[in-house]
Amino acid sequence: MEKIVIGCDHAGLELKHSVISHLQKKGFDVIDAGTYTQDSCDYPDFGYAAAKKVADGVVKRGIVICGTGIGISISANKVKGIRCALCGDLFSAEMTRRHNNANMLALGARVVSQDLALQIVDKFLETPFEGGRHQKRIEKMMDIENKN
Ligand code: RB5
Repeated sequence: MEKIVIGCDHAGLELKHSVISHLQKKGFDVIDAGTYTQDSCDYPDFGYAAAKKVADGVVKRGIVICGTGIGISISANKVKGIRCALCGDLFSAEMTRRHNNANMLALGARVVSQDLALQIVDKFLETPFEGGRHQKRIEKMMDIENKN
């Protein structure tokens, strides 16, 4: 059973619950990195908590959710080794796996419907990385991270 991490802020809480039950139905062992209540909180705390699990190798993939998906994706991307893609459509979810080998998905709970969000999650999780010429580009991204 694959372990996966999911984190959110207060704006993403409701969608996170839907994504968690969706993933559990599909057989994933879900680690919930918070937030756990609707109290206002700061998305960097939970973007970081989720991203750290991926960066440390506890899980291979993760999902983060805030209102727009922007703040929490930027936060996750500050962690070394993270390629977190904010996706609001199925094409982006597919291409970020095929070309960018994204290891985290960000969703905007105030941007996409629950139904679309679950489809994006499925597309992200089922699409393999293509490798080939795209590998060199991933390495260039990692070089930037290592140099700065
Ligand atoms: C919270 O109000 C909101 O700013 C946050 O969820 C997110 O959209 C930030 O990028």
